[in-house]
Amino acid sequence: MGFLCDQLRGQKTRQRPIWLMRQAGRYLPEYRALRQEHPDFLSLVYHPSHACEVTLQPLRRFGMDAAILFSDILVIPHALGQDVRFVQGEGPQLPPLQKDDIEKLSLKEQGTLSKVYETIRSIRHDLIMADKDLIGFAGAPWTVACYMIQGHGKTGFPKALEAWQSDREHLLSVIDHVTQATKTYLSGQINAGAQVIQLFDSWAGLISQDKNDFFEQVVLDPAKKILSFLKQNHPDIPVICFPRGLPKERLEHYADQIKPEGLSLSEEIDLNWAVEALPEAITLQGNLSPDLLLVGGKQMLDQAKNICDIMGNRRFIFNLGHGVIKETPPEHVKDLVDFVHSYGL
Ligand code: CP3
Repeated sequence: MGFLCDQLRGQKTRQRPIWLMRQAGRYLPEYRALRQEHPDFLSLVYHPSHACEVTLQPLRRFGMDAAILFSDILVIPHALGQDVRFVQGEGPQLPPLQKDDIEKLSLKEQGTLSKVYETIRSIRHDLIMADKDLIGFAGAPWTVACYMIQGHGKTGFPKALEAWQSDREHLLSVIDHVTQATKTYLSGQINAGAQVIQLFDSWAGLISQDKNDFFEQVVLDPAKKILSFLKQNHPDIPVICFPRGLPKERLEHYADQIKPEGLSLSEEIDLNWAVEALPEAITLQGNLSPDLLLVGGKQMLDQAKNICDIMGNRRFIFNLGHGVIKETPPEHVKDLVDFVHSYGL
């Protein structure tokens, strides 16, 4: 096990650990080369040896402290029986879920998900000599439901947001199906060898501040259910939650209610505030702006230094506030990883 797990357990490490959301992907020429063999993005995801290769590409080049499984949050709607397509330049497209479709949702683990588990086993096999952690992940139910109900992410998620007023039962039933499926899926990932789990709630920040019961039922309750299931069945596996874009009070409430081992912060969060307000027992992760990684050079390194200085000796994992942008020059990633590793703890 590596530095990421150590930080998440509150143990000192001799280097500050770093990994980046979307560290595998289109900004790397070696990814684009392999991606060309799979006109359909999901066929790459379900190809265990290629998905394993893509997972390890950034570690070989840059030596991050963790690998994140190469997959996508939308494998869950797919395994539940919804059609999922990734159209070049358009992002994901799903036939928006109708009321009658809900009762037909049923998780098929033996098909596509077993391919993901196989990918995890081969990554662990290849990482066995290295001091690196393997992160498994899933989308949080609200974020996954946003895509299932809207059918795409191009214009926000008005259908999912409106469903709280117009069709609450429908919405909560989708959330419940995804919650159950996510428990099974994450358990499968851990059994296959994932050592840390990250739960991505990329759209948690869309729920307006005056709708506390909405937030509680679609964001907090599902996260509580998933984490308590994992604690019961896999007590040694640390979980990092990424509820992106929450205002301060909500983030504090989230940390207090969910108590994950790690909390990933988006770039608008003031780290001086976070260090004061969030419990010391939680390992913070974040939050360099992906735009600064794109810019690179002094601007990026100054902000990286600033982040390290604010975090001081606190439990911390260096990361971005969101995923690597596809136009990012790979040299900037190298500069960042080298800086974080060499900057004194
Ligand atoms: O390196 C990693 O971080 C691991 C792999 C990973 C992918 N998607 C691969 C991917 C992870 C962790 C995700 C999570 C994911 N997927 C999220 C949550 C995090 C976030 O970004 O907010 C969401 C919302 C999705 C859904 C999704 N997948 C969208 C909206 C898109 C299209 C937008 C885009 O960036 O193209 C994807 C496609 C996708 N997932 C790609 C990759 C590498 C690009 C596909 C390609 O090669 O064409």
